[in-house]
Amino acid sequence: MREALAEKLEQVAGVAVSTGDILVTQGGTAGLAASILSIVNPGDRVVIPDPTYSLYVDLVGMAGGEVVPVPLADDLHWDLDRLADALRGARLFVFCNPVNPTGIVHSRSELEALESFLDGTDTVVISDEAYSDLDFTGRPFTSAIELPGLRERTIYCQTFSKSYAMTGWRIGYLWGPSDLIQAAARIHNTFNGSMNTVVQDAALVAIQTCGPDVARMRDAYQRRGALMRDALAGIPGLTLSAPEGAFYQFPGYDLDVPSVEVVAFLREQGVAVRPGAEFGANGEHHLRLSYAASDEAIVAGVERLGAGLDALRRSRA
Ligand SMILES: Cc1ncc(COP(=O)(O)O)c(C=O)c1O
Repeated sequence: MREALAEKLEQVAGVAVSTGDILVTQGGTAGLAASILSIVNPGDRVVIPDPTYSLYVDLVGMAGGEVVPVPLADDLHWDLDRLADALRGARLFVFCNPVNPTGIVHSRSELEALESFLDGTDTVVISDEAYSDLDFTGRPFTSAIELPGLRERTIYCQTFSKSYAMTGWRIGYLWGPSDLIQAAARIHNTFNGSMNTVVQDAALVAIQTCGPDVARMRDAYQRRGALMRDALAGIPGLTLSAPEGAFYQFPGYDLDVPSVEVVAFLREQGVAVRPGAEFGANGEHHLRLSYAASDEAIVAGVERLGAGLDALRRSRA
């Protein structure tokens, strides 16, 4: 399996990949835990965009690190000036691309800016590219490991949960500089142990035979994203962004109610969404909607969302 992954990684990174530098993990979750717990010591500064996938902050907290959240620009991309400032003296920068929860895709020029900010430093990067096959921008997706100045300091974190919809199989992998992967392997061996053979066999079949399915599902998610966005456009008080990747919409809302309360209210109306605040303080007054669902569920869910927000608005008037 690691030989197949090495071949895949060589196509992305454009350099030779040694199988010894690949660690097969129990999903992206265990890969992220092994990386963060092996890199971060108490007091280390860890820079994390805000909002972003919530696991990063939780893991840095477990390791005793100091989280430095960096608010995004209005278009939900990085605010490069703020990022450059925050990165001074950082032990680690963790990000995902495409992004859960915002659905945006960081461009090659954003990654080049990151590369230049880190030039001459010993800051480590974790690039969580769980959704790399789900890019709808029409531009070729740029992985952090394509850029030499990032590759030399980056743990690339990948999973079979999104591209192959193998979430329940719990398998993913890390690739990066040998010393970082060896440290992560010690944590993974201690907390998780090796992956079982059956799951590795299934993942190998996915890599070898499921390319056409991944492409078909990418198109399906892109269509579902547009379907959800069109339906959301009819709901007053929501601010929408264009779906660029992953399978999420992250609309802002204009009610002066915390997102946790909005979500609890909506659940009573029969629709489940995530509160924006779960992804960082700057995610407040947003909701995260997933369109990894059927067309019918998306249309019915958005209808209930609209009715629920209307009822909430009237109850607070
Ligand atoms: C950005 C990102 N990374 C990693 C994961 C973890 O996925 P898994 O542990 O199923 O591989 C998720 C799951 O939602 C995610 O959104």
